[in-house]
Amino acid sequence: MSCPTLLCLLLLIIVCLNDSAAADDFGFLYNGFAGSKLLLDGAASVTQDGILSLTTNSFDITGHGFHPNPVPFTGENGMAVSFSSTFVFTITPNPSGRSGYGMALVISARPDLSSRGFPGAYLGLGGPYYYKQNQQFFAVELDTVFNGEFKDIDDNHVGIDVSSMVSNFSAPAGCYSYTEDDDYFISTNFEGLRLSSGSPMQVWVDYDGESMELNVTLALVPMNKPSLPLLSYTVNMSDHLPSYYSDDSVANKLYVGFSAATGDRHGATHQVLGWSFNLTAPAPPLDYSQLPLKRVQQIQGASTAKNLVRWLPATLSVLAGATACLVLRWRSNKKSAERRQDWEAELGPRRFSYRDLRKATDGFSSRQLLGQGGCGRVYGGVHAGSGKRIAVKRITSEPAQGLAQFTAEILILGRLRHRNLVRLFGYCRQSQKHDELLLVYEHMPNGSLDRYLHGQKHDALAWSQRFHIIKGVASGLLYLHEDWEQVVLHRDVKASNVLLDAEMNGRLGDFGLARLHDHGADAHTTHVAGTRGYLAPELLRFGKATKATDVFAFGAFVLEVACGRRPVGLNARGELLVLLDWVRQIWATGCIADAMDPRLLDCEAHEAELVLKLGLLCSHPLPAARPGMRQVMQHLDGGLPLPEFSADYLAITDVDQVLETSPSVATTITGLSGGR
Ligand SMILES: *[C@@H]1O[C@H](CO)[C@@H](O)[C@H](O)[C@H]1NC(C)=O
Ligand SMILES: *[C@@H]1O[C@H](CO)[C@@H](O)[C@H](O)[C@H]1NC(C)=O
Ligand SMILES: *[C@@H]1O[C@H](CO)[C@@H](O)[C@H](O)[C@H]1NC(C)=O
Ligand SMILES: *[C@@H]1O[C@H](CO)[C@@H](O)[C@H](O)[C@H]1NC(C)=O
Ligand SMILES: *[C@@H]1O[C@H](CO)[C@@H](O)[C@H](O)[C@H]1NC(C)=O
Repeated sequence: MSCPTLLCLLLLIIVCLNDSAAADDFGFLYNGFAGSKLLLDGAASVTQDGILSLTTNSFDITGHGFHPNPVPFTGENGMAVSFSSTFVFTITPNPSGRSGYGMALVISARPDLSSRGFPGAYLGLGGPYYYKQNQQFFAVELDTVFNGEFKDIDDNHVGIDVSSMVSNFSAPAGCYSYTEDDDYFISTNFEGLRLSSGSPMQVWVDYDGESMELNVTLALVPMNKPSLPLLSYTVNMSDHLPSYYSDDSVANKLYVGFSAATGDRHGATHQVLGWSFNLTAPAPPLDYSQLPLKRVQQIQGASTAKNLVRWLPATLSVLAGATACLVLRWRSNKKSAERRQDWEAELGPRRFSYRDLRKATDGFSSRQLLGQGGCGRVYGGVHAGSGKRIAVKRITSEPAQGLAQFTAEILILGRLRHRNLVRLFGYCRQSQKHDELLLVYEHMPNGSLDRYLHGQKHDALAWSQRFHIIKGVASGLLYLHEDWEQVVLHRDVKASNVLLDAEMNGRLGDFGLARLHDHGADAHTTHVAGTRGYLAPELLRFGKATKATDVFAFGAFVLEVACGRRPVGLNARGELLVLLDWVRQIWATGCIADAMDPRLLDCEAHEAELVLKLGLLCSHPLPAARPGMRQVMQHLDGGLPLPEFSADYLAITDVDQVLETSPSVATTITGLSGGR
């Protein structure tokens, strides 16, 4: 928080004191619910203090509170629009029993759920009988009881529910933050939070109609919104929301509100203290000084002096803000050479200092140079603070803005963890003469695979080692494509981006980095990031990277490792040799295994055939004919035999022909489109 913002905050507090909740069709702000016209049912009530109390401690009850006006969730074209909402809640357990069951923010065609919503694990939403009958809702649940029937992950989670109490996506309650650990390595920390602790917590729900991304973020009150959401889920709301009122002649009659329930042996008070909503912009922030936190403070044994309690949160935040200002100013004086962008201040100074990195790499001396790639030079070194060996990639770029945007992505890439990915520890930005970005990676003692395949090493890698590396890289790419919470495209899979750790496992490096070119590129020029010989034909034509273009590059990589030749190189007579075509020709005119690296002595014939054919299939000219990485993994593990196809199949460039020619391969096509 900067000092001017603080002034604004003070002004806002003063202005808002005289202003009660405003509401209109497109957004609203409740700093407490006193005087509001919420639609209430079941056990729900608004207390004297202005708290929306959904349930009391009694067993087996439900309560609902909805904003009175329907929300136009869909635009004129019938497509779901973006929305953003935030609320502060408390769940206070029954002192003499088990706590439960939880509450939810709900979008529903009906604000009168009391006759239809069931208590207990249904959280006042669906019910066993109404389950399939027109009971459609969208909910973000705060679930405090484990229920096996609904495939709950634990007894303290946040979940996204689409018309079913079986969550489509959920995570244990908590919040992410970036911190420097003891070794000065920046890392993402996950701090677990107990939902039913009686402490006020805040939830943010943000949906972007364009990207169809839904984020849910949770934090203790008072705290700024964490920069990383707890849940990030892609869902096409246009598929769901409009159908919720299909039986209704008046479109756009959807209501938003809260639902909560207790169970037969579980009780808890579920309360909402403040709530805001907007369809076109981030939900307006709640003013803590106005929220009825008093009751909560009492429960926690705080002072009962009315004014003190009323002002305490505001006073605290002002004090915290002032301290932050002082600390920030002190810090920035100390490190004035490093540019601090706004968003960085928000995240805090959790990154490597330029001085430490310069020291670690001996002032970026050429003796420490490990390699040089398209993106920049890589230096080795030892980080003084931790004694850890690191590799520092130094990227220089002219368009300053490109780097600023990119750094935000770096923070996401830094959260990726997989045994076949090179771990990204953090970054440093420095701008004196140039805008410069330094990325700090885990050090890989055995260097890049490229050197073993094409370098002057006496003993080339044995087949068993190569096969192990291919499997590792496939596993790393599968994680990026399918197994992480959001899809990450590598965009530059190739042998020189595969590094070897001390146990000779293959690890993908530089993931996501090719985006740098996109950000930096002039909007009028199409710049395709990637490396010649690994670029899928449609990537060259349309310039759009997809999972299928990564698979193409993976195919080229597999052939490179098996044949010991570069994807595009020169043959003994000095003629251009495109590896893909060469292998295909060898297969068409004889035995495919003849394409293998002649240096290999220990190669099993069936493995050679599998790997070469898989490489060719992955690099099929048509994206739809390429397998997905999950399937590639199954082929490599021997669990799924390769489909039958001939060398001719690889020359097909017409989609319809693929479907006609090889039905067994056509099945792979459906597998490919099933991404998230
Ligand atoms: C919603 O956000 C927009 C853009 O900031 C603002 O103009 C509008 O007043 C907001 N609506 C409400 C009711 O807060
Ligand atoms: C998830 O959402 C879809 C609709 O997008 C729904 O059909 C499905 O039943 C939901 N539940 C689960 C557990 O995936
Ligand atoms: C969700 O969170 C991610 C990561 O912070 C962010 O990039 C994205 O813009 C967010 N999306 C929405 C709809 O808020
Ligand atoms: C989302 O769903 C709507 C309605 O079913 C559909 O028209 C639209 O094409 C879908 N969007 C995407 C990107 O799949
Ligand atoms: C590097 O690879 C070799 C085999 O080429 C292996 O013996 C060695 O243990 C690996 N690790 C290191 C740190 O050199």
